[in-house]
Amino acid sequence: MTEHQLDTLLSEQRRFPPPEGFARRAKATTALLQDAARGHQEFWAEEARALDWMRPWDRVLEWTPPHAQWFVGGKLNASVNCLDRHLAGPLRNKAALIWEGEPGDRRVLTYWDLAREVRRAANALKQLGVRKGDRVAIYLPMVPEAVIAMLACARIGAVHSVIFGGFSAESVRDRVNDAQAKIIITADGGYRRGQVLPLKRLADEAMAHTPSVEHCIVVRRRPGGEGDESFAGMTEGRDHWWHRLLDAASAVCEPEEMDAEDLLFILYTSGTTGKPKGIVHTTGGYLTQVATTTKYVFDLGPEDVFWCTADIGWVTGHSYVVYGPLANGATVLIYEGAPDWPERDRFWSLVERYGVTVLYTAPTAIRAFMKWGTAHPARHDLSTLRLLGSVGEPINPEAWIWYHRHIGGERCPIVDTWWQTETGGIMITPLPGITTTKPGSATHVFPGIVAELVDNTGRVLQAGGGFLTLAQPWPGMLRTIYGDDQRYQDTYWSRFPGRYFAGDGAKLDEEGYWWILGRVDDVLNVAGHRIGTMEVESALVEHPAVAEAAVVGRAHDLKGQAMAAFVTLKDGYDASPSLKDDLKAHVSHKIGAIARPDDIFFSADLPKTRSGKIMRRLLKDIAEGRALGDTTTLADPGVVNRLKDLYEAQEA
Ligand code: PRX
Repeated sequence: MTEHQLDTLLSEQRRFPPPEGFARRAKATTALLQDAARGHQEFWAEEARALDWMRPWDRVLEWTPPHAQWFVGGKLNASVNCLDRHLAGPLRNKAALIWEGEPGDRRVLTYWDLAREVRRAANALKQLGVRKGDRVAIYLPMVPEAVIAMLACARIGAVHSVIFGGFSAESVRDRVNDAQAKIIITADGGYRRGQVLPLKRLADEAMAHTPSVEHCIVVRRRPGGEGDESFAGMTEGRDHWWHRLLDAASAVCEPEEMDAEDLLFILYTSGTTGKPKGIVHTTGGYLTQVATTTKYVFDLGPEDVFWCTADIGWVTGHSYVVYGPLANGATVLIYEGAPDWPERDRFWSLVERYGVTVLYTAPTAIRAFMKWGTAHPARHDLSTLRLLGSVGEPINPEAWIWYHRHIGGERCPIVDTWWQTETGGIMITPLPGITTTKPGSATHVFPGIVAELVDNTGRVLQAGGGFLTLAQPWPGMLRTIYGDDQRYQDTYWSRFPGRYFAGDGAKLDEEGYWWILGRVDDVLNVAGHRIGTMEVESALVEHPAVAEAAVVGRAHDLKGQAMAAFVTLKDGYDASPSLKDDLKAHVSHKIGAIARPDDIFFSADLPKTRSGKIMRRLLKDIAEGRALGDTTTLADPGVVNRLKDLYEAQEA
């Protein structure tokens, strides 16, 4: 965020009280806040009672900092809570999933259908030798099978590790190896902007170096599409067609009794080193938090059609496409492809066709819609919408107001929700029937959450700017980093002892509203996607031409942040536009297209401190065209000026 953007944000004076009609019927009431005020453990215990437990817990919380256990001794199964418990009543024949593929193909699965598919998939996994605690990697496009696969794992106590379909073969390989996954579930392709994502081919490349994988299950997304270059065929004995396995499997499958603290999933996310972290989430606390936040933040119930546009490869897809909405018996819309395919009104045609009532998307998407113009939403009847959500990055007031006006018809409250892969569920957010919103502010902590702003020394601040920390454990919190508990302790709990440090800067205004300013560590947020600068730097230095690389984020109108890479070349290599393209393609190949740098700048040197650390802050100043900050600790201050001149010259 630039200083100018920050000033505009904080001078935002507009207020939006909840619409009266909404407030009258909202699930979250002021009584909820009073309950929460009585104690955060009691609040969460009360909410957890709304789930189906096979055995009640003995203690709500066991807190041995920084390790928490919630609902100790309790037993439950996540798939039972998302499916079986809805089958006895009127939800049985209601749509659980409405799916539309990018080419326009459609499927609807009722709760009954979904439960049957999940049980059959669970039996298929069992038949391939998957047992409780085994890890299953899921590398799929946004198809119903992605949801079925996750819930099938949950049913038998296998731990899923979903890998976003846009990641490269190497990223898949690293994640599969870190989790020692036994199975990979993938597809013979997926559609994005009319192109086929060659998932099985990439999975094949990955599987050449993943000794733990015994079987690969392949969803047939493109009947008749076999044999082209995106699909390399099936390996006898290792690969199995999903539909064949399921055809042969029984639809009777007793749920595994899971301890509240048994692992539900691992989800990899970027940090400040080159190696992604496997964030570990368990069953009871996670499910409690996502079910509770879904109910109150999205005001969600069985009569709703909820569309969270996130891919299931991200935590938003886990918590608010799958577990939260299904636990609440809602109807979930899933769309496979791009928002501008075949036309820029695709989202609005989906909202109209399926009568979406609650829409949850990212500021980057909203800014793209703004750029494409109001004619696209205006062509469609969006009157079914009653609530809008935003997630993943700070939303600028201009985008907020546009969303409110052109999508929400000035009648829908907007919930700007702050949370992270690590928090499992929403932490700071308006409650739609209660909170008066201010465009650009995530407003207040969710009931039962204790967030505090601290200064550099860890002193708690009542107002002003500082670091966002969580002062009490919460049910959906990550339990550790898979296989590396020391990293868990160092990353989150060492900067401010006794507190979880989120990595975000924030501001509290005089009225106690939170304004999230963005990451203060070496993590970028490009178009709402979290990318570690070190990951991209390591990918760049693996290119034969690159001697050294430094990656920084720079403010970007549409994407929030864009990625600028400063690269020094090895002797014998010359800077050229084609080498730039080559380096960008190299990073896409190594990590995935989301990590492709926007700008590459060649430079003879990189600015370093006397101890040899690259000064990213200075590079950011250069990339954003600002006057240079303090350079007195630099080994060679001239480097920065030379770089800045170079940057400007190359920009032209
Ligand atoms: O910087 C914050 C930003 O996204 C980061 C978490 O990224 P990830 O784990 O990928 O999860 C994204 C979806 C929950 C945070 O550290 N962030 C998330 N939501 C917001 C946000 N920044 C500002 N406002 C938000 N509402």
